[in-house]
Amino acid sequence: MERLKEKVAVITGAGSGIGRAAAGLMSREGARVVVADHHAQSAEETARLIEAAGGRALPVTVDVTDEDSVAAMVAAAIAEFGGLHVLCNHVGGTNPRKDLDLLRMDMDEFDRAVTLNMRSTLLGSRHAVPHMIRAGGGSIINTASVAALVGDVLQTSYGAVKAAVVSMTKSIAVQYGPQGIRCNAVAPGAVMTPALEDNLPEDVISALKKGNALPYLGSPEDIGHTMVFLASDESRYLTGQLLVVDGGMTAQSSAAPGRRAMLPA
Ligand SMILES: NC(=O)c1ccc[n+]([C@@H]2O[C@H](COP(=O)([O-])OP(=O)(O)OC[C@H]3O[C@@H](n4cnc5c(N)ncnc54)[C@H](O)[C@@H]3O)[C@@H](O)[C@H]2O)c1
Repeated sequence: MERLKEKVAVITGAGSGIGRAAAGLMSREGARVVVADHHAQSAEETARLIEAAGGRALPVTVDVTDEDSVAAMVAAAIAEFGGLHVLCNHVGGTNPRKDLDLLRMDMDEFDRAVTLNMRSTLLGSRHAVPHMIRAGGGSIINTASVAALVGDVLQTSYGAVKAAVVSMTKSIAVQYGPQGIRCNAVAPGAVMTPALEDNLPEDVISALKKGNALPYLGSPEDIGHTMVFLASDESRYLTGQLLVVDGGMTAQSSAAPGRRAMLPA
């Protein structure tokens, strides 16, 4: 299958988890992939996996919060592959041990959340858009979260900055739609990546499973496949939207798991 043939894709945070899965899947569909991460070894490992499977990948070390570094990442993509058609602004997150409730949250963590999630999305897009205009169009895919849609007892900053990413997605879609650039966001629910496994205790993971309509948690590939669709021309009429990929977490009433027991056998 070559749904992304002739396309060059830059994916930030591609050294691990969802970003690595998306990079592999896009390569499988024929894209040449820039594997960008601030952890050089992880980026190189993802690129090695892609090349071993017969794809083309360029590992790039980047700090997505730093404008010069982001500019250098985009320049490296152009120098190696001659253009840029897809950008996944995937890096983000907060530290749930510091990003607490309103009264107890660490304000430095709030500032870090704004920089890591919002500033990074703005910077990546800002440097990619001129090249996409030159290419006659492109697709920007921003990683949001279900946290943008529902309130929580902690991670106050995380929900707020991911909601801002959704808002920025719509602005970019409106501003550059006339030049053929689409911009969409993906809101993953609980996905089993190192970020989630390292930060959440077993009982919380089991509660997350119960909160889904489907009886399992997502894999990085579940989100990666959605990103491939958004990168491809199959989604050519889709822009400014948020695709929620959460196993039904936000569709399900909190009463549903308990009420299941009320059904006749
Ligand atoms: N895993 C989930 O359940 C889940 C759910 C909703 C949203 N998300 C979102 O997915 C994204 C993270 O994805 P993941 O779960 O694949 O995490 P991950 O921890 O597996 O991967 C994150 C990658 O980003 C890199 N990175 C961190 N800071 C960076 C920086 N400043 N510059 C460049 N690279 C940097 C890390 O080195 C790492 O390789 C975040 O935007 C997160 O909010 C994840």
